[in-house]
Amino acid sequence: MATQHSFKPSEINPLNSLDEWEDAVLNRYPDPDSIAKDKSTDAYRNYDTPERDTVREFYRLNHTYQTYDFVQEKRAHYLRFDKKEMPVWQAFDFLNQLVDDSDPDTDLDQFQHLLQTSEAIRADGHPDWMVLVGLMHDMGKVLCLFGEPQWAVVGDTFPVGCAYSDKVVYPEFFKNNPDFTDQRFQSPTGVYEKGCGLRNVHMSWGHDEYVYQMMKDYLPEQGLYMLRYHSFYAWHREGAYGELLDDHDRDMLRWVKLFNPYDLYSKNPEPPDWKKLRPYYEDLVAKYLPATLKF
Ligand SMILES: [Fe+2]
Ligand SMILES: [Fe+2]
Repeated sequence: MATQHSFKPSEINPLNSLDEWEDAVLNRYPDPDSIAKDKSTDAYRNYDTPERDTVREFYRLNHTYQTYDFVQEKRAHYLRFDKKEMPVWQAFDFLNQLVDDSDPDTDLDQFQHLLQTSEAIRADGHPDWMVLVGLMHDMGKVLCLFGEPQWAVVGDTFPVGCAYSDKVVYPEFFKNNPDFTDQRFQSPTGVYEKGCGLRNVHMSWGHDEYVYQMMKDYLPEQGLYMLRYHSFYAWHREGAYGELLDDHDRDMLRWVKLFNPYDLYSKNPEPPDWKKLRPYYEDLVAKYLPATLKF
């Protein structure tokens, strides 16, 4: 229903679960605290795992098919927000239909990840809007439920329409992207002006941009940057794409960096006590968000 392209089933879901991408990111950027505490990350360091092959294939597809035109097509399709409308709490149930069949016993559902992120932010005494960012940041993964391939929902994001940075993971796969040989897109700033600011740059399509657009009228600017760029690791972890930034981006970067560890390092096998937390979150959602969300 969603795509004009048709992809083979093996090209739609190369990962056994979306968590495989997140585990791969965690492997790349391990928690400095758990290293300090000598919690071994050796399990993640096993590069011969079958998971690693599926993640590699996932990035091959992502880097091959996320063209400038693909992004325009997805933006035109999804940013109309005319697919569904539902109360916020029902939206979490909807998101939770995304179940991982690989390991249903050990993986926490999407809502638990959101709640663990938001609770870790709250425990550190950050403003309540940032707690809400934690709660909402992966809502855009519902794109999978609209039939989008995994590589058009998750994965590190990167600018399209300009030269690729070798700071993006698996840069060698960009050779397969039709934009790679398109003159318009291959100067360092491509279709953009130097220093134009990220707000004028189109990112590869995925859950970050989608949730940002969904939330953009309801949260402060710092929170919107956290949503919009939380998977843009080449920027917030690697410092790439400086030629596209303006002063506002450089100023907002610290907020994106502040958020990232809560997303990456809050995972815990112990699910939060939702019964106890519920009144706080009902008030928080009511304070900032409208009664229904549009998808
Ligand atoms: Fe995310
Ligand atoms: Fe997340």
